[in-house]
Amino acid sequence: MLLHSIMSSYYNQLLDNNKKWVAEKLSENSQYFSKLAKGQKPPVLWIGCADSRVPANEIIGAEAGEVFVHRNVANMVIHTDMNMLSCLDYAVSILEVKHVIVCGHYDCGGVLAAMSDQSFGLVDNWIDHIKDVYRFNKMELDGISDMEARSRRFVELNVMEQVDDLKKSAVIKSAWSKGKMPSLHGWVYDVANGLVKELITIDKINK
Ligand code: CO
Repeated sequence: MLLHSIMSSYYNQLLDNNKKWVAEKLSENSQYFSKLAKGQKPPVLWIGCADSRVPANEIIGAEAGEVFVHRNVANMVIHTDMNMLSCLDYAVSILEVKHVIVCGHYDCGGVLAAMSDQSFGLVDNWIDHIKDVYRFNKMELDGISDMEARSRRFVELNVMEQVDDLKKSAVIKSAWSKGKMPSLHGWVYDVANGLVKELITIDKINK
């Protein structure tokens, strides 16, 4: 009962927060929402992890309208994932984003799960894709004896792999062949200090 009342007050707080946020935005700029209502032309597609500690817009100081967001467990780019492909194609072909950012993060539950033999239910099917990334990099990763260091490197290698998968995707290849620009970026975010580290950037020219 107590838990229920705590939870419902938390829930009600969310609705109150929304009203406060609207008031705050309007006090800064009375046109804030009427401008957004006209449409979007975001310069960035964000492919990030579903982890609650990595809020896309917030960590890069971006406003509403700047970032088209796709998130899944462990920021994966899987060529048969229609959800990811639809977001990617719409962002690149229609919205014509300038940057596609794959942002992984240290202490990623999906990556840690892929290092263990534990079963987590339905998500295991998804984790199998991350396990493939381990297999591709087995020699390097097995060579790191400290498990914390190994998981951090795995997070980085996973981001690099997803950027490579983007580069090979029909959507990106077709955009580049039409002279469109989207640069591909691989980032890793540190949940312990809030900082982003750039791992790789691939432009049409240096691909
Ligand atoms: Co994660």
